[in-house]
Order: sequence, then structure tokens, then C-alpha cells
Amino acid sequence: MTEEAAAAAEAIEGDAPLEAGEPEGLDAEAMERRAAALARVVKFGDPVLRSPASPVSEFDEDLAADAERMIGLMRDAAGVGLAATQLGVLRRLLVFQAGGDAEPTVLVNPEIEWSSDDLVSAEEGCLSLPGVIVDVERPLHVRVRGLDSEGAPLQIEGAGLEARVLQHEIDHLDGVLMIDRAEREQRRGALRALREGGTYAPERPDDEAAGNGAGQGGAEERPVTED
Ligand code: NI
Repeated sequence: MTEEAAAAAEAIEGDAPLEAGEPEGLDAEAMERRAAALARVVKFGDPVLRSPASPVSEFDEDLAADAERMIGLMRDAAGVGLAATQLGVLRRLLVFQAGGDAEPTVLVNPEIEWSSDDLVSAEEGCLSLPGVIVDVERPLHVRVRGLDSEGAPLQIEGAGLEARVLQHEIDHLDGVLMIDRAEREQRRGALRALREGGTYAPERPDDEAAGNGAGQGGAEERPVTED
């Protein structure tokens, strides 16, 4: 890993986990909005999450309405990204907002045009897999090509969290979940938690020192990224 990659990796670790973390500092009203948004998101076990989405061909009012709805849900859920698949809509449409100051972006028919050889591993969460955090190794930089909600070409060069969110959301459009990209032991732990309605987070050396076992909760204290 280059120095740049290491710096970016460190920056990611400072963030909340990708889509899934329980955000800190939400007031009661924001928590309620978050719960209502999460209730609209399709959860693990629903076959739609395993289905590839179809390219968008009509840039009409329906598409604009779907995109607006997704941005609203992403914000309410305090997530950093959302794919249409997660609302049960099998169209190649995603929204993301990587970082608090960033504007939400709508991306239609996205394709990863280029990805870096530099790989970085970081924690991810997913609004469709509540309570689960896994480490996922992905390219640090990507260049993604797609269209905006009106059909105009869009090219995005992303690094760090933005690159990670884009890859996670594009995976959703292909029916791929973050647990598919986790190492076997973590995937097993995550699947067990999903089956039993528990939580899972990778074991860390710190956890052992603190006397916590692997996957015994703890996800809430740990930074996680969710889309
Ligand atoms: Ni997700």
C-alpha cells in the first residue's frame, strides 16, 4: 500500500461504518425518522437483494421521484448511500452522500470504468443487514461513469469513503452484498447473527483486552460505514 493509500485508509477508519452504524448524537426525533426510514429498506433474506437490476432507459418523472425518495430515505437513515434495489426497485439507480458536507448525488446506470491496484480494508455496514459489520477489502480509488437523473453523462473519481460507497452500492445493483466480499470467518459470524437476529462485528485485539468475545455486540461503539 502506498503512503497515500495508508493515509486514506486511516481517514476512513475515523468515519462511522459505511451504511450501517448506529449514528451518535441523534435526538429523539431524528432517531424516530431513522427508524421509519429503516423500516422501508428491504432486509437480508428478501430475494430482491440477490437480483441484478435492469438498466434505466426512461428518464421520466418516475425516475426523478424514485431518486428524490431515495435521497430522503438516505438522509433520514443517516446513511451515506442507497441503491434502488434496497427499496425493492430493480433499476440501476443509486444515491450517495459521502461525508457530511457533500451534496447528495444521483447516479443512473453506473459502471466502474477503472479501479486502483491499491486495495484497502475497512469496516462496512449496510442498511439491509442491520446490526452487522464486516471488513471488506476494496480498491482505494475508482472512476465511475454513469448518467444523472436527467440522462446527462456523469463521471466521478472517488477515493476513500466515496470510492467505497460507490462500490458497495454498485454491488447492490448486481445482487452482491458486503458479506460476499468478507473473509469466511466473518461471513459465517455475520450470517449467524442475521439468522438469529443478533449483531456481529469483527473481533479486534482490543476486544480481547477488554474481555469481549468475538461478535458479542459492540457494534454500536465501533465506527462503521453503512450505505
Ligand atoms: Ni448496503
